[in-house]
Amino acid sequence: MAGESFKILLLPGDGIGPEVVGECRAILDTVADTSGARFTFETALIGGAAIDAYGEPLRDQDIDLARSCDAVLLGAVGGLKWNDLPKEKRPEAGLLRLRKELDLFANLRPVKVFDALVDSSPLKPDIIRGADLLVLRELTGGLYFGQPSKRWSDQNGRQAIDTLPYSEREVERIVELAFQLAKQRKGKVTSVDKANVLNTSQLWREVATEVAERHPDVTFEHALVDSCAMRVIASPASFDVLVMENLFGDVLSDEVAVLSGSLGMLPSASLNTSGDMSSDRDARRFGMYEPVHGSAPDIAGQGKANPVGAILSTAMMLRLSLGLGEVADRLEASVASVLNDGLRTADLVAPGAPFVSTSEMGKAIESRLTSTLSGKA
Ligand code: IPM
Ligand code: MG
Repeated sequence: MAGESFKILLLPGDGIGPEVVGECRAILDTVADTSGARFTFETALIGGAAIDAYGEPLRDQDIDLARSCDAVLLGAVGGLKWNDLPKEKRPEAGLLRLRKELDLFANLRPVKVFDALVDSSPLKPDIIRGADLLVLRELTGGLYFGQPSKRWSDQNGRQAIDTLPYSEREVERIVELAFQLAKQRKGKVTSVDKANVLNTSQLWREVATEVAERHPDVTFEHALVDSCAMRVIASPASFDVLVMENLFGDVLSDEVAVLSGSLGMLPSASLNTSGDMSSDRDARRFGMYEPVHGSAPDIAGQGKANPVGAILSTAMMLRLSLGLGEVADRLEASVASVLNDGLRTADLVAPGAPFVSTSEMGKAIESRLTSTLSGKA
């Protein structure tokens, strides 16, 4: 790894985004100091911050900048201030455009339960212990991008429409990736749909069945999204990789966050390849990395944000885009270690209980990482 150089685009965004991305940058500086890898950082505005500065949520030139980088690390977008704007001018439009233009169709949202946080979840310890699953969300199709999508008024009053399209090719590439990922994990794929009602889900089920036939070594099941939403909370340990369309994935990934104790804990990676995942330690594939949580404007600037979701996203970046799997392992172990020591951000404690600030949490993880990378631990 020594001497390798990487160009990273930081898109801090809105609300708590800049705070959590700041902690990630400090951690990458530590990685550079102790591992020999070198990082060049570019920074650009996205979301409400870009609307305020340029009048649009993402500039063309910043999409080009993203393309020229090895990976993108994003904080969060959105906030009350921009809520009344039309859909295509809102902060979220910048994020959706970036996902679409970079063809980041595969969104990996792993949910792991840290032993130290078993009691932080409102679910019974017996239910969540051992849960380790991956929501694989299709990210560039479905209801988020389908046309027509509009609002209008006529003699029947106010009307609106969104459209849910999927092509065979779009389903095939994400389901194929689900199987590739399952082979690195517990060897099970659950394809989630609503095939008892929706045409797109019937196509999804058909294609998923065909892909499954190519992977007889992986256990495969179909699940209807409504009952799956119940089972994933009732018996999370029985799942491994769950693959689904865009909106189902948006909903289910927030739901399963409850297993980890807080939405603030969850990382994500968005990739544009379904290629072989078996040699991921040496991979150099482009990706965008962001915590699953939103911009949380109510707590922005107060040191109450949990940087762990963003820091674990950074670990995914090191592993999946930069070929630094070993450093990623150590960063994840550093997170587990500070949690074992009892450090908790505001989202992980009962109301009124003491907590550490965003930067205290970031610094603690960073110093644990420094010791392990420089061989002192
Ligand atoms: C997410 C978020 C986004 C989404 C918003 C901010 C557009 O909720 O990444 O899950 O709906 O995809
Ligand atoms: Mg969401």
